[in-house]
Amino acid sequence: MTSDPLLALRPWHAPEVTSWRRLPMNAVDRRAGAVRLDGDWRFQLLPAPDAPLGEVWSSSYVPGVWTLQDTDDLPRYLNVRMPFAEFPPDVPADNPTGVYERDVEVPAAWAGRRIVLQVGAAESVLLVHVDGRPAGISKDSHLAAEFDLTELVRPGERTVLRLTVVKWSDASHIEDQDQWWHGGITRPVLLYATDPLHLADVTVRARRDGDLRVDCRVRDAAGALPGGWYVSGELDGHPLTQDAEFDRANAEDERVSAFLGEARLRTTVPDVRTWNAETPELYGLTVRLHRADGTVADTSRHRVGFRDVEISGRDLLVNGERVFIRGVNRHDFHPLTGRTVSHAVLRADLVLLKRFGFNAIRTAHYPNDPALYDLADELGFYVVDEADIESHDHAHEIADDPRYLAAFVDRAARMVLRDKNHPCVIVWSLGNESDYGAHHDAAAGWVRRHDPTRPVQYEGAARLGWADPDVASDIACPMYAPLQECLAHAMSGTQTKPLIQCEYSHAMGNSNGTLADHWAAIEATPGLQGGFIWEFWDHGILQRVNDGRPAGRGGAGLYGNGVAAPGYRWAYGGDFGETDHDGAFIADGVVFPDRTPKPVLYEHRELAAPVRIASFRHEGVVLSNHQHFRGLDWLAGEWELSLADGPTLTALAELPDLRPGETAAVPLPFTLPEDGGEAWLTLRVTTAGDEPWAPRGTVVCLPQVRLRAASPVVRTPAANRPVDVDEDGLLVHPLLTAAPALSLWRAPTDNDELGGMAGRWRDWGLDRPTRKVVSVRRDPGRVTVVADLLCAGGTVRHEQVVTAVEEGLLVEECAELPETLYDVARVGSVFETVPGLTLWEWFGQGPWESYPDRAAGAPVGHHALPVDELFTPYLRPQESGGRHGVRRFTLSAPDATGLAVRLDRPRQVSVTRHRAADLAAVTHHDELVPRPGCVVHIDAAHRGLGTASCGPDTFASYLVPAGVHRWSWTLRVL
Ligand code: GAL
Ligand code: MG
Repeated sequence: MTSDPLLALRPWHAPEVTSWRRLPMNAVDRRAGAVRLDGDWRFQLLPAPDAPLGEVWSSSYVPGVWTLQDTDDLPRYLNVRMPFAEFPPDVPADNPTGVYERDVEVPAAWAGRRIVLQVGAAESVLLVHVDGRPAGISKDSHLAAEFDLTELVRPGERTVLRLTVVKWSDASHIEDQDQWWHGGITRPVLLYATDPLHLADVTVRARRDGDLRVDCRVRDAAGALPGGWYVSGELDGHPLTQDAEFDRANAEDERVSAFLGEARLRTTVPDVRTWNAETPELYGLTVRLHRADGTVADTSRHRVGFRDVEISGRDLLVNGERVFIRGVNRHDFHPLTGRTVSHAVLRADLVLLKRFGFNAIRTAHYPNDPALYDLADELGFYVVDEADIESHDHAHEIADDPRYLAAFVDRAARMVLRDKNHPCVIVWSLGNESDYGAHHDAAAGWVRRHDPTRPVQYEGAARLGWADPDVASDIACPMYAPLQECLAHAMSGTQTKPLIQCEYSHAMGNSNGTLADHWAAIEATPGLQGGFIWEFWDHGILQRVNDGRPAGRGGAGLYGNGVAAPGYRWAYGGDFGETDHDGAFIADGVVFPDRTPKPVLYEHRELAAPVRIASFRHEGVVLSNHQHFRGLDWLAGEWELSLADGPTLTALAELPDLRPGETAAVPLPFTLPEDGGEAWLTLRVTTAGDEPWAPRGTVVCLPQVRLRAASPVVRTPAANRPVDVDEDGLLVHPLLTAAPALSLWRAPTDNDELGGMAGRWRDWGLDRPTRKVVSVRRDPGRVTVVADLLCAGGTVRHEQVVTAVEEGLLVEECAELPETLYDVARVGSVFETVPGLTLWEWFGQGPWESYPDRAAGAPVGHHALPVDELFTPYLRPQESGGRHGVRRFTLSAPDATGLAVRLDRPRQVSVTRHRAADLAAVTHHDELVPRPGCVVHIDAAHRGLGTASCGPDTFASYLVPAGVHRWSWTLRVL
């Protein structure tokens, strides 16, 4: 038995114990003047919390997780399942425990002051000792814990601070979020001092009418408050007044004792500049606590945003406006440091989100780093702030296990107490995937009483009934609900709450099909208001390939453009030797682990476009402002006219002065030339000046309209030129190393795999068909080949007619799929080229990757990219690099030789250096070996991507049906 009272309590196995001697959470920012204890601490990793300390210390960097700092306790990824078998609240005996120690010099100037330790976050149980004496306990891995050390330290002297962090506890069962398991101290540690008379909390309420109310909670560490104290405040230099009415009521209230100090400051700001995500106007508030003689005992600084949030009927309103929620779920994540994120890293995340049209963040699934909220206030995001509660694996048991009641309420309450003053926070969330029990109602009750200014949501409660008034969710916030179901609800006449999906459009691998269909429905349907894409990050951890160790902080710079440097890779579940794991399900974000945008972000940017255009009776275009609060003055525009058979013309665009919701007809900026074929007009919208999140000239959106359709191409046969095929009827061509063949398969995407399609395709043998020639007929200048593709699931007859035409070869193809092959990946041609063709130039959608159901953000035009930049390096290799709506292309060597292809109509095309089978054969991007030549797919039909790895598949209209498919293309030598 240990003699240490904290260890003797075994708090890691006591859900009722949420803390001991922890100070109440508050919203007073103590960073200024604090001593930062970041850096290397002495460190020991024990096998269990009560194991004896060893003689030898190593070191560990704080803030940081030890799982990424060269210990033998490595990261582990499991989604729902707990990483141990014990039932709540039990934990395994094998329980890594980090002991962090360091000497701290307490400033002599702090004599007589109240001295407080703040530990930013520790997972999952924190025990604090000062010079061997117990100082406190805390749980809740994603919120700070403060302890009053005044009695335990001596200013001017050296003190040994020990933080013991136990990895597995009863609390782990309610921190079962879908992410890596780590251990450590993940946010900064501070030591600060205040006067014994201090501001214990400050609550700011700032309304859009300019009304400001600041409630101050004053305490004296010595006990009863001294007489005569008062508070003062100023907002951007304008004084606030102490609310005399409030003081009088308190003075007359016999329940208010001499220990309870409360004061209220007020002002009304005339012509207030309100806060919203588009124009996040902030004011600076300083609150001072004075002693009777007027001297300042304490100061607290805040940034204030004046705004209202309310639910009116089935609309969530910000400042009276039904704003669309273009949200993303975001974890605190970094590929080198795990859950530790710096201000700079957070800023980069949010800047990127702004640039791609997001205006909302759900802090999945716990209160994020405090800096996130400062940045969201500043840059403009609506935040759904989520409590650190997810009991996924044992949700049903825990939701009604009274031993966990306190933890639920504690976690929700501490989040609210910390974040209540942020204008960005518009909704409180009670947690994630924890079933629905009385604990949730208890937490909701506390939150609603404490903060009546914001709605509460909880998916687990909303699940019981989107319109049910009695459940603890003011918002119908399902996850992955099929669009049809949302539409049906909105049109049922029974909807009573805003419908904003807390998670939708799962971004695993090559995904996010049908996002445009979702947004078309949301924008057109009252009652639908948006949602939060799952999720921001691919949580790949940078790992050395040779020894399997995480690169940790030393890996800075060893990645770029979405890929790890040679010798490294992005690790996902299973890569650290775990036997039980959930694989690449951890890589489901809209950015790569190094924050490189995935193609879906361009799609999202366009769907969120603040300016839209539509063609107007061939005379002009109608331009509209799709924002909620802003005019168009912050934007600049340039017209681009792309002609299929001509140059791209540009002209400066004068954007009309439109208020939100307004439209204006503007004349066509160009006279359309008679020739040039298909014509597209794009409005290239950029920032007119520097925005806090984008320098001047940053692309905001690229709305586009078609001005003229393509006219049919007439081809002249050249019968005197022979067509060369081998005895199997395969085309022989100097630029091709593999002749055009029928292709029905793609390297399964994560959606294909988890949605069951890939398995079906393998069962049908589409990945390994046998080609059997039926007939080869040679006519002058023409060869007709009929072949059967024999697959286990059915036989596909394929006819290929190659005709010599003036410009080269015309390839006309027809494939007939039997009814048994009702949903295949693609129907099209695949061929391979000689090495050396390095540049792909095309007229079609681009420049980034697009697929039939993710093609709203890739404008039609002339695009060019090196072949090696066409491929998207999804962590688990899969179908990638496709471009939708391609009309024609050239593939050329640096000396301009190569080939040119013209398609009968816009088609899905991909040019990569990998066969589908190459991609399907490996598990990580670094294992791919590019082929010397190009692999070119031209698809008559290509299956949409959907989101079936978690949620709905693509729509029927994006499937490849059975039956007859016809397509044709010409091949010309450059
Ligand atoms: C949701 C869950 C998320 C994540 C996602 C799948 O059910 O809330 O945490 O697991 O599915 O990636
Ligand atoms: Mg979960």
